[in-house]
Amino acid sequence: MTTPPNIVILTGAGISAESGIATFRGPGGLWEGHRVEDVCTPGALAADPELVHRFYDLRRAGLADVAPNAAHRALARLDRAWTGELLIVTQNVDDLHERAGATRLLHMHGALQRALCADCGARHAWSGALPPATPCPACGAPALRPDIVFFGEIPYEMDRIEAALAHADLFVSIGTSGAVYPAAGFVRMASAYGAATLELNLDRSEGSGWFDESRLGPAGILVPDWVEGILSR
Ligand code: APR
Ligand code: ZN
Repeated sequence: MTTPPNIVILTGAGISAESGIATFRGPGGLWEGHRVEDVCTPGALAADPELVHRFYDLRRAGLADVAPNAAHRALARLDRAWTGELLIVTQNVDDLHERAGATRLLHMHGALQRALCADCGARHAWSGALPPATPCPACGAPALRPDIVFFGEIPYEMDRIEAALAHADLFVSIGTSGAVYPAAGFVRMASAYGAATLELNLDRSEGSGWFDESRLGPAGILVPDWVEGILSR
């Protein structure tokens, strides 16, 4: 019996597209004329907290209208069944992976349903609106912000991600444009450490050339197919 390969999976907005959540760089990716790069920055939060909080309030409220799709469900099935190491690293701030049942999951860009205290650093589960200057339940400072990694901030749990990439046998990237670092660099890191690399995306991404193999199509078809294949090996 051979040991099962260690797998790291990176997901992006494309995996939630078929659930009805607009991707960032596709059609509908603009929000009231603002590019995401102009809203999701520490500078924007300082200059216009109402705007930034409203952006995330709308996205958090929108979670009630969406559900996991076949791709989220297939990854949750793999997570349950896979006896080797597995880590799903998502850039998404929605909760569709966990609603599908995935547990070996890490939100590298934060999560809509968490609030972060800019004063004491406490994190709180959050639903409903989060207006600027909401007091922190831990320390009382009026400093809660959405627990989202903004442009210019360092993504969460990079040490854990790099450790997983370092001993991955297979790296799979799903539904991400490869435009935003450091996630866009994971394929090269995984390759350098010796992993096989596979991309599942609607169209060729900026990083397609770095993958051993790219399969093009909707995640709702490609991901269940791939999971079926790897579980029946
Ligand atoms: N199935 C598979 N892939 C899809 C689908 C689909 N149904 N629909 C779109 N895609 C692909 C697009 O072709 C594109 O390559 O998903 C990718 C989405 O790219 P982006 O909108 O750039 O999203 P993402 O890569 O997740 O963005 C990275 O940028 O704004 C920040 O922090 C935000 O985490 C986000 C990061
Ligand atoms: Zn606090």
